Amino acid sequence: MRTSIINEGAKHLEYEIRQIVDYGYALRDQFGIKMTWENIGDPVEMGEKISPWIVDVVSGLVQNPRSWAYSPSRGVLAAREYLADEVNRRGGTKVTPDDILFTNGVADAVDKIYDIIRKDARVLMQSPSYPTHSSNEAKRGDYELLQFQLDPNNDWQPDIEEIHNKIKYNPQVIALALVNPDNPTGMVYKRETLQAIADLARRYGLFLICDEIYVHLTYNGRGTMHLSEVLGDDIPALSFRGISKDYPWPGSRCGWIEMLNRNSDPDFAVYCGALVNAKMMEVCSTTLPQMSIPLVYGDPRFAEVKKTRAKQFEERGNEFYDFFKTIPAVTVTRTYGAFYFTVLFKDGMLDDSQTLPIADPECARFVAEKVKGFPPDKRFIYYMMASIGLCATPLSGFHTSLSGFRLTTLKPERERRMESLHKIRKAIEDYTGVH
Ligand SMILES: Cc1ncc(COP(=O)(O)O)c(C=O)c1O
Repeated sequence: MRTSIINEGAKHLEYEIRQIVDYGYALRDQFGIKMTWENIGDPVEMGEKISPWIVDVVSGLVQNPRSWAYSPSRGVLAAREYLADEVNRRGGTKVTPDDILFTNGVADAVDKIYDIIRKDARVLMQSPSYPTHSSNEAKRGDYELLQFQLDPNNDWQPDIEEIHNKIKYNPQVIALALVNPDNPTGMVYKRETLQAIADLARRYGLFLICDEIYVHLTYNGRGTMHLSEVLGDDIPALSFRGISKDYPWPGSRCGWIEMLNRNSDPDFAVYCGALVNAKMMEVCSTTLPQMSIPLVYGDPRFAEVKKTRAKQFEERGNEFYDFFKTIPAVTVTRTYGAFYFTVLFKDGMLDDSQTLPIADPECARFVAEKVKGFPPDKRFIYYMMASIGLCATPLSGFHTSLSGFRLTTLKPERERRMESLHKIRKAIEDYTGVH
C-alpha cells in the first residue's frame, strides 16, 4: 500500500479565529442568519480609517518602478537600515541591517522559525497561546505542547517558578516563546517578569522568541518594552515585528525578524543562517510595503498616530472591563496592550445541557449535532452564533484549559460596541442561568 501523504503533525494546525468563520457562513447560507463578527483582529475590516498621509506615502510608492521589482532576499536595504537603527537607538542589544530579515507578515516568520528546529527539541510557550505559535510548535514533532500558565488572577503574569521548573525538568527545551503585548489576553509583560525570563534563558543556555507585533499599542501605565532591552549582549533571541497592526495594514503581508545576539551562540548562528537561506529560496517578501517603512515610521506624524491609537484602545479596553466585571458568571482582567479582551467563565458555569433559543428547529438540530464533543466554551460560542448572530473566538482555540472567549475592541463606534456587549451579556445570562 502507498505510504500516507501527510505529516502526522499536520493535525495540530488549528486556527479557530478563522475556522469558526466557515461555521458562520454555514449558518448564513443554510439558515439566513446574519453574523456580527467579533473574532478577527483586522482593524481595517472593522472600520478603522488609515491616516491620509500614510495613504499618500503608499500611493507615491506605487509610482516608483522599484516598488514593482523583486527586492533583496533579506529585505529592502533602506528599511533594514532604518529598523536596525531603531533597535540600536533603544539601548540594549545592538544589531546590523543583516540581522533584520523580512517575511510576508509575522505569521510567515512564525511558520518558518518553528519548522526548522529539530524534531526532538521543544519550545516552552505561554498558555493561552496565539495559535500560529502553538500549532506550529505542536506540528513539528507531533507533540502535546509544553506550556506555562499566564495567571488571570495576577494580571495574566506568569509564575517564574513554574517556568523555571518546566525548563529544569525538560532538558529538551531549547527556547521560550512569548507574545508581548499579548493576544488574546491584552497582557503586557512587566519589566521584571521579562528580565527574570531572560535570566533563566541565560542560565539554561536557551534562546528567546518574542512576538512584538503589538509593541506600539500599550497603555494603562504599561509602557512599550522591547525584548532587546533585557537581553544584554549574550542571550540569543528572535523578535518579530510587522506593520499589520501599526499603520494598520494587515493586507500588506509585511513583517520582519530581528535576530538578536545572533553570534553569541554558534548553534543559534547556524539556525539564523538557515532562516536566511530558507528566505532565499522564496526570492523575497513583498517590496512596496518594505519601502514604505522608513517613510512612515520615520515621519514625525507617526508618533501622533501611535499615541492616538494607544489612547483609544485604552479607553475601549477599560470600557469592556467595566462592562463585564458586573456580570456574575464571568471574570475579567484589565488590559494593558493590543486590542483584544478575554472574558473567562467562572468554574462550574458551563455544562453540556445548556442551550440558547434558536427560532428555526432545523437550525437548532444542526447546532446540536455540530457541538457534540466540543469544549464547553466553544459550545457556548456556537450556540451564541446561531441564537443571536454574534461570533467571538472561544478561548479553547488558544491552547488553554481555561474556558472563555476573546473579543476585539476594534469597532470604532461606541454604540456598535455597546450593542454587541449587551447582546453577549444576555447570551451569557440565558446560557448559564446566572443573572
Ligand atoms: C500575536 C500575533 N502575531 C502575529 C499575527 C499575524 O501578523 P501578520 O499580519 O504580520 O502576519 C497576529 C495577528 O492577529 C497576532 O495577533
